[in-house]
Amino acid sequence: MGKAVFSMRRAVIDDFGWWHTYRNSASAVAASGGGKPLTSDQALDKFTMLREPDLNVFWMIEPSAGWVTLECEDYRGEISIFVTEWARGQGVGSMAVKQMCRYADKEIGMEAVIARVREENIASSALFTKCGFELDSTSEDMWNFKWEPGE
Ligand SMILES: CC(C)(COP(=O)(O)OP(=O)(O)OC[C@H]1O[C@@H](n2cnc3c(N)ncnc32)[C@H](O)[C@@H]1OP(=O)(O)O)[C@@H](O)C(=O)NCCC(=O)NCCS
Repeated sequence: MGKAVFSMRRAVIDDFGWWHTYRNSASAVAASGGGKPLTSDQALDKFTMLREPDLNVFWMIEPSAGWVTLECEDYRGEISIFVTEWARGQGVGSMAVKQMCRYADKEIGMEAVIARVREENIASSALFTKCGFELDSTSEDMWNFKWEPGE
């Protein structure tokens, strides 16, 4: 089988079922702040909020390899990333994070992108560090990474 080529596109309503399934997978739940699967209502609220075009950015990674989101507030965006298990370790996560940071800077003029990572999430800390983020602060069991344009 040939090597998969990965690309990003904006999330649409029809992505909800797939997204909800993977959002409730063990690694996504463990990485999220809440630590619990989302009910259908909670998931639909979150999905709708992430798709709010004037506020947030929500991209699916094709082919069915995950998603990357940016939740924006006051010139700062909080990034989240999920890559499906089969697609990990091939540079998909770093490609998506770098592309989102570039978009946050060039297209929406964000002053900073932040990533909140649970301290035990070694892969995620390594990923953001590789993408040019720096450890900004720690709180309880979270590490807060920050990326600023032009560095
Ligand atoms: C974290 C995650 C997004 C990484 O995605 P990925 O596509 O595998 O990442 P990449 O292949 O681009 O790897 C980038 C870097 O991350 C690090 N990394 C990735 N997987 C790792 C692992 N299992 N252990 C240690 N470091 C790891 C490496 O430094 C790697 O760089 P290298 O290949 O040059 O060594 C993926 O594991 C995932 O979706 N995990 C579950 C959800 C999650 O934790 N999201 C982050 C929430 S803050």
